[in-house]
Amino acid sequence: MSAVLATYDSSRHLQSWPPRFARGTVPKAQDFEIQPVADAAGNLGAEVLGLDLSRPLSDADFDRLQQAHWQHHVLVFRDQRITPAQQVAFSRRWGPLQIHVLRQFQHPGHPEILQVSNVRNAQGQPEGLGDAGQLWHSDLSYKEKPSLGSLLHAQELPSEGGDTLFADQHAAYEALPEALKQRLAGLQAEHSYLLHYEALRVKSPWRPALTPAQIAEVQPAVHPVVTTHPGNGRKALFVSEHFTSRILGLAEDESRDLLQQLFAHSVQPQFVYRHRWQPHDMVFWDNRSVLHLAAGTPAHLRRKLYRTTVEGDTPRA
Ligand code: OGA
Ligand code: MN
Repeated sequence: MSAVLATYDSSRHLQSWPPRFARGTVPKAQDFEIQPVADAAGNLGAEVLGLDLSRPLSDADFDRLQQAHWQHHVLVFRDQRITPAQQVAFSRRWGPLQIHVLRQFQHPGHPEILQVSNVRNAQGQPEGLGDAGQLWHSDLSYKEKPSLGSLLHAQELPSEGGDTLFADQHAAYEALPEALKQRLAGLQAEHSYLLHYEALRVKSPWRPALTPAQIAEVQPAVHPVVTTHPGNGRKALFVSEHFTSRILGLAEDESRDLLQQLFAHSVQPQFVYRHRWQPHDMVFWDNRSVLHLAAGTPAHLRRKLYRTTVEGDTPRA
């Protein structure tokens, strides 16, 4: 076991949060910089340069990252040579980790890691969710407590394709006409994991059929259409084509038309940062602030990333 894991063993903290450092091992601040990405959309996207995520994070460094996360919504940590255990340990600094309903795609040693992978094992079975993120979405918005943020660590990247797009939902909300902002105030929408599940299975037959227990675990949730971010205080649109099934209290066609209008508005190019993955990138995005989409990977190329997902608060208007 490495020195880092000896001072901060995440497995000991599976049931406790916030995690605690062993006495006498308070981590030191690191020398790092935060710079907007070159092709940022507005203030969406920043690179964290010089921070080593294999080392335990000091409280001061955590605070700097949190401020940057609230301001830039997508943080890119380049060239992180970290183990799955170290990804879990860093992720746990932000909150309890959520275990994905598709248990069959867990990392064998770390249930907190969802394998986002199109790689098949020797028996031809998929080892991970190969078609994650085909529609714009915010991770786990179908839960009572959706995700604060998700972390993806690149394991294996294709020689072409495989980008991930992020759309700034604060900017999208702020760009709405005033009359539409007023119409949305107080509206609530239903989010459902099952909304597009079978349609995705038709396109990707290796996506597993859900068991009754899995279906029971993903009951729909209702959230405000416009939320207020608990950290930066800004409003954001919180609907997505993948999971938002209807707006409560509206006639079916009215709900559908309004959602279509919002889906189209929310992912316009001026709100979007395209992440082009580099080897060993770790990307940590804020699911309260952005929607994201997998741009797609040619079927014959391998792509594999490890995802951890941090639980957030119940969204508030
Ligand atoms: C995810 C996801 C997109 C991608 O892991 O939550 O949506 O580009 N991934 O892999
Ligand atoms: Mn996702």
